[in-house]
Amino acid sequence: MGIPFDRLGSLFSRWGHRAYPRWAWPLLSEALRTLPREGRVLDLGGGTGVLARAALAIRPDLKITVVDPAKGMLRHVPAPIEVAFARAEALPFARAQLDAVLLGEALHHFQDPRAALVQVARVLRPGGLLWIYDFDPRAGLGRWVYWGERLLGEPANFMTPQGLLGEIAGLGFSGSFEARRGRYVLTARLKDEKPQAAARPA
Ligand SMILES: C[S@@+](CC[C@H](N)C(=O)[O-])C[C@H]1O[C@@H](n2cnc3c(N)ncnc32)[C@H](O)[C@@H]1O
Repeated sequence: MGIPFDRLGSLFSRWGHRAYPRWAWPLLSEALRTLPREGRVLDLGGGTGVLARAALAIRPDLKITVVDPAKGMLRHVPAPIEVAFARAEALPFARAQLDAVLLGEALHHFQDPRAALVQVARVLRPGGLLWIYDFDPRAGLGRWVYWGERLLGEPANFMTPQGLLGEIAGLGFSGSFEARRGRYVLTARLKDEKPQAAARPA
């Protein structure tokens, strides 16, 4: 069971942007402004590219790739945005190649969000940006979304923003979040020096 994303491409392509609150867009804009010219960006679990399109409207010079395992979603991603058919837990990108990773309403859908975050830390360059929009399962609207997705058979691997900050701190990120009524935007940077545990080879 679970949400059949493969068959929901038209829906997300047309209405997906409505799932983001207005206050999230200025935070995205502010974060993207810090990226280098023609920076390389992943929209991870990007579906039809809702975030990628928004990012391109803000910064037309960016080179953006949408990564997703649902071909029916990727089919709706418009050029010049590139697509990669892959799971976040096994990203087909070399180490320290990317300037930013965006995750919009996606992390909690992953089977193994922690493995995905390890991959994100691997592919980002030092100083790289991680921007996440998601629901807090312990607050406001997030509580309902959590239970709704559990009923639908989704992984529902939600994290609180505080928990997520702690999780990524262990991977060498430092950041902050803004939360409103069960939704949050977390912005973080990969520090130049990774902690010993994360830096050690597997
Ligand atoms: C709610 S949609 C959000 C799509 C897009 N970010 C947006 O804002 O419209 C969640 C997406 O996560 C994708 N997804 C699920 N498991 C994934 C995984 N392990 N790795 C990458 N993407 C995954 C789904 O295919 C789906 O496109």
